[in-house]
Amino acid sequence: MTSATSPVGATGSAGSADASDVPVLELVDARVRYRDRQEGGYFEAVRGVSLTVGRGEALGLVGESGCGKSSTIRAILGLAPLSEGRLLIDGVAVDPRDRAVRSRIGAIFQNPAGSFNPRRSLLDSVAEPLRVWRGGSRADRERAALAELDRVGVTELMARRRPHEVSGGQCQRAAIARATVLGPEILICDEPVSALDVSIQAQVLVLLDELRTQAGLAMLFISHDLAVVATLCDRTAVMNAGEIVEVGTTADIADRPQHAYTKLLHDSVPSHLFLTNSGSS
Ligand SMILES: Nc1ncnc2c1ncn2[C@@H]1O[C@H](COP(=O)(O)OP(=O)(O)OP(=O)(O)O)[C@@H](O)[C@H]1O
Ligand SMILES: [Mg+2]
Repeated sequence: MTSATSPVGATGSAGSADASDVPVLELVDARVRYRDRQEGGYFEAVRGVSLTVGRGEALGLVGESGCGKSSTIRAILGLAPLSEGRLLIDGVAVDPRDRAVRSRIGAIFQNPAGSFNPRRSLLDSVAEPLRVWRGGSRADRERAALAELDRVGVTELMARRRPHEVSGGQCQRAAIARATVLGPEILICDEPVSALDVSIQAQVLVLLDELRTQAGLAMLFISHDLAVVATLCDRTAVMNAGEIVEVGTTADIADRPQHAYTKLLHDSVPSHLFLTNSGSS
């Protein structure tokens, strides 16, 4: 299987095809090839991946290091070449390299401090997308950025500091504010808690879950850790060697893994960590 589209629709519900059935995010038969400098030719990191994410849905994408998770989302974000395949937002085909598309997709990455300009305050960095996309006065942008930072639990005092002057958790909260400040429809998270202390991980996961439910965001959540995905995601797709090898509800993937590779991933996680958001353990 190479597809993370649900057989009964993106949100897992069968029924008539009204607007709410159209996935917010749909990737169809995506392929990402990189030039292989040593061997010559090309190396295919993503090999025909299809996935859908419905409104308010969180889809987990798990798999071992190097299987192509980041390449898949980099293709969605226009940061890696989509050599084949299509990206649709709200059912309409779009070019991932189109800057207007980027304003509809927020992204959060693993290393929060590294994703900020070290010389600028967190507030300036969060206000930057507003300057680019909304214009308005500096005071208005600051007010809007501070409100977004407040929403994710960053005080004005912290917001006026530079990335190295706050904790990793505060920095990742600010990164979330920067990703959501334009009110995107889609939030892509690439290992957003792997660099954080375990106690902070839980807080950030709760925050992401709140944002998803409050704003009805479609979320694509990448992790190598099935247990982390199980706390947040409705459905999970398992990736191996550039392909999606299994997809299902997170509870099914956690309780009844089908593919040999998923079983291997599953067995590497202590069972008590599988506290899925559907209540299964
Ligand atoms: N810019 C690039 N040029 C060439 N090869 C690349 C490039 N980026 C990634 N790759 C290769 O593509 C494959 C997939 O990498 P990718 O970063 O997508 O994996 P991943 O699943 O995100 O891994 P991790 O869990 O370690 O972040 C790897 O073999 C990697 O070495
Ligand atoms: Mg990665």
